Amino acid sequence: MNADPEVREHLGDLLTRERSDASVARFQAEFDQRGYGWSAVEVQATGEFIGFAGLDQVDDGMPFTGVEIGWRLARPAWGHGYASEAALAVLAHGFDTLGLPEILAVTTATNHRSQAVMRRIGMTRNPADDFDDPTVPEGPLRPNVLYRIARSART
Ligand SMILES: CC(C)(COP(=O)(O)OP(=O)(O)OC[C@H]1O[C@@H](n2cnc3c(N)ncnc32)[C@H](O)[C@@H]1OP(=O)(O)O)[C@@H](O)C(=O)NCCC(=O)NCCS
Repeated sequence: MNADPEVREHLGDLLTRERSDASVARFQAEFDQRGYGWSAVEVQATGEFIGFAGLDQVDDGMPFTGVEIGWRLARPAWGHGYASEAALAVLAHGFDTLGLPEILAVTTATNHRSQAVMRRIGMTRNPADDFDDPTVPEGPLRPNVLYRIARSART
């Protein structure tokens, strides 16, 4: 998944096995430390691993702070509604269990599939929140959009 150019189109470099494994180890450590983080996503009927979804602290240096939701699925798992289903479970955990007042989501302006997930789960974008990611060099991955959902806005 992390070495697939289609999956990585809006994320940056392709990851080697070593870098991918290191990111999973980091996810595990952050989860243990904070009590929330990234979880594996499996197809309920079969138990097949298809990717991950979860919550993360917004990186330092961004023009906003908070907790963000995210997702990444292997290419064959796209187009089945799995990301939105997982994301709704993550939102429920963030609001109902962790008691977060608001959850954010960030992606590149060009990542229309990810933005569609954000809209499907009830998040909204104010164009005034659009920003250039200061950690990314000039190029197509620099312009980013910010979506939000407040606990009070959930139906
Ligand atoms: C972003 C990403 C997770 C979106 O996955 P996705 O499968 O398009 O998203 P959803 O789970 O919401 O699925 C919606 C699609 O499933 C279809 N679908 C099929 N059966 C469905 C069902 N039972 N329920 C809901 N949707 C269903 C929908 O019609 C929609 O199809 P469409 O895109 O052709 O309109 C995926 O593209 C990805 O992993 N990208 C690479 C990583 C990435 O960019 N992550 C985000 C970084 S911010």
